[in-house]
Amino acid sequence: MSTGARLPRGEPRGVVYHPSLISNRERIYAARAGKKTQWLSRQDRCRCLPDMTEDLSVREYGANDFAALATLWSDCDLLRPWNDPQKDIDRCLENPSSTILVREHPERKGLGASVMLGSDGHRGWLYYLAVAPDLQRHGVGQQVVRAAENWLAERGVGKVMLMLRPDNHAVVDFYRSLDYEIEDRVLMAHWL
Ligand SMILES: CC(C)(COP(=O)(O)OP(=O)(O)OC[C@H]1O[C@@H](n2cnc3c(N)ncnc32)[C@H](O)[C@@H]1OP(=O)(O)O)[C@@H](O)C(=O)NCCC(=O)NCCS
Repeated sequence: MSTGARLPRGEPRGVVYHPSLISNRERIYAARAGKKTQWLSRQDRCRCLPDMTEDLSVREYGANDFAALATLWSDCDLLRPWNDPQKDIDRCLENPSSTILVREHPERKGLGASVMLGSDGHRGWLYYLAVAPDLQRHGVGQQVVRAAENWLAERGVGKVMLMLRPDNHAVVDFYRSLDYEIEDRVLMAHWL
């Protein structure tokens, strides 16, 4: 049974479209079928955005990445006075059930994207999702979230969770486009 993405009507079969050219639903079908929807057909290059996901794969954070990662988080306004990025990274990497995935920037030195992820033994959680401002809206956020989901799924995690400020509508829209849903829960917390 084929579960592949539907192609736009009238277009040649076998062509895989940049995410900006297919609907979210088609993208979800393709992702579920494990199909790659990130690269451009040669025919369509002239009417597509530049492809940012073709050549650079997502990889695990390395010890030499700290400065680039802190710059990326700062550029994406993810740093908070009460979170020390070095400590957050060290604590994450101490634990075999969590990691940080990063992606190089395709055009300059530095990192283009990151996500911190881990399993608490029951659910998977995502933090510090960041795409460099000059790379946003090219499918890179989707690429790193899917890589994070795969990392967690390979470790037996069945559900991915994340927290967002309720007024962060852009990121809510981003996750909705990846088939995430808002759940009716109360989030409670206590500092230790
Ligand atoms: C959220 C973020 C990671 C998205 O990364 P991205 O690479 O721009 O996302 P993608 O290009 O993969 O977007 C996939 C889809 O999500 C939706 N989307 C992405 N950004 C959106 C926005 N600002 N507003 C509305 N929808 C958006 C769109 O449907 C998009 O598809 P389209 O471009 O074909 O329309 C990026 O905007 C970012 O780093 N923001 C700053 C840091 C941040 O707030 N991180 C979340 C911390 S909780």
